[in-house]
Amino acid sequence: MTTYSKTHALMQRGIDFLGCEHAVLCGAMSWVSERGLVSAISNAGGFGVIACGAMTPELLDTEITETRARTDKPFGVNLITMHPQLMDLIGVCAKHGVSHVVLAGGIPPKGSVEKIKEGGAKVIVFAPTLALAKKLLRSGGDALVIEGMEAGGHIGPVSTSVLAQEFLPVLAEDHLVFVAGGIGRGEAIAGYLEMGAVGVQLGTRFACATESIAHENFKKAFFRANARDAVASVQVDPRLPVIPVRALKNKGTEEFTAKQREVAGLVDTDGLAMMEAQLQIEHYWAGALRRAVVDGDVENGSLMAGQSVGMVKAEEPVADIMAELMNQCETALGARG
Ligand SMILES: Cc1cc2nc3c(=O)[nH]c(=O)nc-3n(C[C@H](O)[C@H](O)[C@H](O)COP(=O)(O)O)c2cc1C
Repeated sequence: MTTYSKTHALMQRGIDFLGCEHAVLCGAMSWVSERGLVSAISNAGGFGVIACGAMTPELLDTEITETRARTDKPFGVNLITMHPQLMDLIGVCAKHGVSHVVLAGGIPPKGSVEKIKEGGAKVIVFAPTLALAKKLLRSGGDALVIEGMEAGGHIGPVSTSVLAQEFLPVLAEDHLVFVAGGIGRGEAIAGYLEMGAVGVQLGTRFACATESIAHENFKKAFFRANARDAVASVQVDPRLPVIPVRALKNKGTEEFTAKQREVAGLVDTDGLAMMEAQLQIEHYWAGALRRAVVDGDVENGSLMAGQSVGMVKAEEPVADIMAELMNQCETALGARG
């Protein structure tokens, strides 16, 4: 049996917090992180997270039930703070006794963290700045994910390596910090663990695993792509604060530019509220990602991917990817003597 003693020693606080074997989360990926992939990650000793995305409470209810039928290991649920039924979704998580809820997509609305905790779950938060991280950890967040701009999907402006240097020396001793964005190999995991992270979160590296339901066209596009093909979307109208999304460049990239112009036009002519404008943009992304992941339309759909996509070369079972990452990490730590 392989032992990962050095890696596990550095991950111990993360392992205790998550209740799994390795403190490696597979970050929620809309349409991809469903019952199949989530249970496979947790069964392989990692921590799977269901992407609730735009699901209704009923759909989330079913997804949790189906995931639980496939694994007796812990897994989490990722909820988008902007979801109009956020409180109901939190209720569904509580009903199922979900152990960890990840709040993504912005500052948690008033009462949401408290409600999650009342339901007995631990709360994992994201924070783009140190000041906000401290605030969220003071007001009930149990653990923090810092995610750099190398990541796939919605991104902030700062790279993982810089975030790690800003956050870990200040927070790592007293708080649980997981690092995400651009991690494709175990050597990088070793580096962040040595800096004080208690674990890591990966998305891109797991998106095309054998157990992932992503369409084969989506997977093929990943296998062909290099790091430089995963580009961040550009904001076309300075008044419409669009969160950039990193995805493989295709025709859909241009369509998004047109969509932004259309929504900005509605703000001008119909007085569309900014919050509503942002929701329209998010609906657009959810639809575009679905087209690529579910329908296999890799021309017009959104191929959200991080820069680590260049390290994804073939379809592999989750357990093999996990073992490879852990072996690389352990070997790297071992080489330090
Ligand atoms: C296809 C795709 C979809 C994603 N969807 C979501 C999402 O719905 N919610 C979320 O919080 N993060 C989402 N992410 C981000 C991942 O959870 C994870 O944090 C990120 O992929 C980590 O960086 P990496 O891609 O460099 O490994 C998505 C990422 C990808 C690649």
